[in-house]
Amino acid sequence: MSIVVTAATGHLGNLVIDELLQRVPADQVVAVARNAAKAAPIADRGVEIRIADYNDPAALAQAFRTGDTVLLISGLEPNRRDQHQAVIAAAREAGVARIVYTSVLGGPEADFDLAADHIATEQAILDSGLPYTFLRNGWYHEVYTDQIAGQLEHGVVGSAGDGRIASAARRDFAAAAAVVLTGDGHEKTAYDLNGDTNYSLTEYAAELARQSGQEVAYSNLSPAEHAQVLIGAGLPEPVAQLFVGVDDAIGRGLLAGRGSDLSRLIGRPTTPIADSIAAALSSR
Ligand SMILES: NC(=O)c1ccc[n+]([C@@H]2O[C@H](COP(=O)([O-])OP(=O)(O)OC[C@H]3O[C@@H](n4cnc5c(N)ncnc54)[C@H](OP(=O)(O)O)[C@@H]3O)[C@@H](O)[C@H]2O)c1
Repeated sequence: MSIVVTAATGHLGNLVIDELLQRVPADQVVAVARNAAKAAPIADRGVEIRIADYNDPAALAQAFRTGDTVLLISGLEPNRRDQHQAVIAAAREAGVARIVYTSVLGGPEADFDLAADHIATEQAILDSGLPYTFLRNGWYHEVYTDQIAGQLEHGVVGSAGDGRIASAARRDFAAAAAVVLTGDGHEKTAYDLNGDTNYSLTEYAAELARQSGQEVAYSNLSPAEHAQVLIGAGLPEPVAQLFVGVDDAIGRGLLAGRGSDLSRLIGRPTTPIADSIAAALSSR
């Protein structure tokens, strides 16, 4: 009866493992990864590794045991909806005690294209009859702060207008996942997880300018212009359209925040965007 974390080798997965090891002994934690070499640093911390790709039902069948609590971290590939279904089927077959899923802020109310796979996955979990917790994660600060080099050179570009973003640091979301995985009373619950405060991309650019001492402005483009910029930067057209759809959702207030579940779960305020900008600038 372990706590099993899928996609453990990703940014969020590594942070969840780290947060779990601050709360429970390593022999209670299992990491599922598709790449053993990438999982080696996690194994070095005393965590059992089970190798399974989301595309490999036979391997997934070996990834879970009766009574496990499973964190399904959403994938990134175009067929992730089917991949998640395969994970859920394997978890159900194994008889896990609960499945925890990293979904999207707003759940079924998130009407933009990027959210559709999350809504379908929530429904698949409900249909499975497994006890569940949905972690409806808002945006990571790192979605923006990972782009700081380009932002300092070209400015901040988007089509979100004055829409506000209640993002939080990946570490905050990881801490919430660890709390929900190790604690009681989270069954049949969906948490909307977002930062305590929100900001517009104009305010984000102003804070980056203030901290860097450089001129940085936000250029608000039309959706078509925004798509062209993203395609020009190398994104395939369908992916560019997904991001334009996200900015449209931001413009309509869908990522502006839905309460304080995140700070309540982690027992502290969420990380301010200014702190994540400072961390990103100092690691350049
Ligand atoms: N809320 C947000 O702002 C936001 C932003 C970006 C992404 N996300 C979602 O949150 C998830 C976690 O974010 P992250 O920052 O940790 O992403 P990440 O660092 O790119 O990690 C993605 C993880 O998914 C694993 N994975 C992908 N395809 C897989 C497959 N077929 N089988 C098994 N594992 C697979 C990767 O394995 P490898 O390590 O082997 O590559 C990696 O561990 C993402 O996958 C995405 O669904 C949310």
